[in-house]
Amino acid sequence: MRALRIIDTDDGPRGRITEMDQAELTAGEVVIAARYSSLNYKDALAITGAGKIARKRPLNAGIDVAGVVRSSEDGRFHPGDDVLVTGWQLSETRDGGLADLVRVPADCVTALPPGLTLWEAMALGTAGFTAGLAISRLRDNFQTPEAGPILVTGASGGVGMFAIQMLAQAGFSPVAVTRRVEAQGKALRELGANDVIAPDDLDLAGKPLGKELYGGAIDALGGQVLADMLGQIVQFGNVAAIGLAAGPKLETTVMPFILRGVSLLGINSVECLAPRRDAVWSELAGALKPAQLEHIAHETIGMNDVHAVCDAIVAGEHSGRTVVDVTR
Ligand SMILES: NC(=O)c1ccc[n+]([C@@H]2O[C@H](COP(=O)([O-])OP(=O)(O)OC[C@H]3O[C@@H](n4cnc5c(N)ncnc54)[C@H](OP(=O)(O)O)[C@@H]3O)[C@@H](O)[C@H]2O)c1
Repeated sequence: MRALRIIDTDDGPRGRITEMDQAELTAGEVVIAARYSSLNYKDALAITGAGKIARKRPLNAGIDVAGVVRSSEDGRFHPGDDVLVTGWQLSETRDGGLADLVRVPADCVTALPPGLTLWEAMALGTAGFTAGLAISRLRDNFQTPEAGPILVTGASGGVGMFAIQMLAQAGFSPVAVTRRVEAQGKALRELGANDVIAPDDLDLAGKPLGKELYGGAIDALGGQVLADMLGQIVQFGNVAAIGLAAGPKLETTVMPFILRGVSLLGINSVECLAPRRDAVWSELAGALKPAQLEHIAHETIGMNDVHAVCDAIVAGEHSGRTVVDVTR
């Protein structure tokens, strides 16, 4: 079988297309014939070696996969079933989705929900699932459109674009926060953003609290931007923390929490257990399915083109989503 495998080289871990034996795959009850995967920031770090994602090597790359069950030792899945896996340590400790075959424990597998094709599932992938999960967490904590606009940082990235479109479809008023206001502003408005601002526009100049301008936020950046946005959320608003593109540190005060009842909600898409995972995927196949999914996932590439796209993602020159046809 063919796989894009992370191996140790003299320059550190790197992804290489190679042949391997199915028997070498990491353990599990379900073997999936992969059809599509997609490229997330984490994939780019793993494949270029810009970040150490694969904690054992060699290990197949690809944190997401959609395909057809080839064999199953678990009663929940049968040969011929369309399924998907996002996260679950694929490409970290388990062989991932950029390979002809993927073998995983049955608990990691989600049946493809009605309303999604295998390609659409990977056009969404971890990015779409994370945006859906963040919206689900906000709503569970009583976030309503009436509370005010929702900030979406890292807006032109995969999670950001999906979050904007899904929030707009769910009746919220998204505000895109991007470093590329000029270059990406028009496209972000077309996705549903009601306003487009730069991260600097949220600067509170060291003050713990500013005006209550926003109902909530979905934040991909962390660092100072997250601290500043917490001070501008309305009473009982929610901020879903999904990423650390600007940094892992959070230096803030308790003021937004104790004076305004603001909640900071953690989002971990990697090990989301079945009840919530299934609920989010049903929403992604229904009301939250992005109307412009094919516009956001603007390219489908073969295995040989994966490296070039990963380089662009690491260089910050990529926008939207790239699907990989694993059979090409
Ligand atoms: N919690 C989870 O389970 C989970 C799941 C998926 C992803 N994530 C994390 O969420 C973040 C976004 O993921 P993604 O797949 O959407 O990544 P992506 O496609 O690479 O997008 C990240 C976006 O963040 C902005 N950005 C990048 N570097 C920045 C910097 N140094 N300072 C400020 N802004 C920067 C850029 O948007 P602009 O150019 O528009 O500013 C970029 O498009 C990543 O940190 C990723 O690791 C977490």
